[in-house]
Amino acid sequence: MKKERIFTEREELWKRGSSRWCHAEGSDIHQIGVFASRDIPEDTRIIEYVGEILKNEEADQRGIDLAESVDGTDLASVFNFILDEEHQIDGNKEYNTARYINHSCDPNCWVDVIDGRIWVIALRDIAQGEELTFDYGFDVEHWKEHPCRCGSVSCVGYIVSQEQWPQLRKKIRKMLKLMDAEEKREKAEEKRKKKKDKKKQKKKKDKKRKKESKLS
Ligand SMILES: C[S@@+](CC[C@H](N)C(=O)[O-])C[C@H]1O[C@@H](n2cnc3c(N)ncnc32)[C@H](O)[C@@H]1O
Ligand SMILES: [Zn+2]
Repeated sequence: MKKERIFTEREELWKRGSSRWCHAEGSDIHQIGVFASRDIPEDTRIIEYVGEILKNEEADQRGIDLAESVDGTDLASVFNFILDEEHQIDGNKEYNTARYINHSCDPNCWVDVIDGRIWVIALRDIAQGEELTFDYGFDVEHWKEHPCRCGSVSCVGYIVSQEQWPQLRKKIRKMLKLMDAEEKREKAEEKRKKKKDKKKQKKKKDKKRKKESKLS
């Protein structure tokens, strides 16, 4: 009896986690992505983001563990989705096709929580074959950990919530300034070293010449 109930729940999750509107395949952005299987009209609820509902504490710990386990590889490290103030969904489940949706700085989808369920919704009309993307909404605090390869014209270089782009741009400017200053410092140091070496060589040559003139 219990076995049958579990099987039904799993089947239900597989059903909720797939959609006639889209499918997963290789992506130019990152490994696997999700693509429109047909033309999708604006505002369509395309697919649900399903997974295991966890309290924040457990979800955060799983996130940390996963990030540590894939550190130094190109494997995906973020699958947690905020459901409400206390809960997140761990979407790292094989039945959750939406886990493959990549981030873009110019997304064609957005995500909304409707009656306790997370939906990926079309921001505009999407043509068959287009990769589905949404704004991951990552906090600017961790910007350096998530370089963006979305390839859109408006790409800001890092996976950061569009709302925080002004702060991100400031941080990037600061980083570039520091890099510029460091480069200038290194060049000046190199120049100083070359000058010192040249002086040393000259001194050595003068000494040798003096010695030779004394001998002759
Ligand atoms: C939810 S997964 C998306 C599916 C992922 N492409 C895969 O094959 O498993 C999130 C991970 O995908 C990668 N990713 C998603 N969007 C990206 C982007 N615009 N640029 C670089 N990496 C991205 C990051 O590694 C991120 O941690
Ligand atoms: Zn981008």
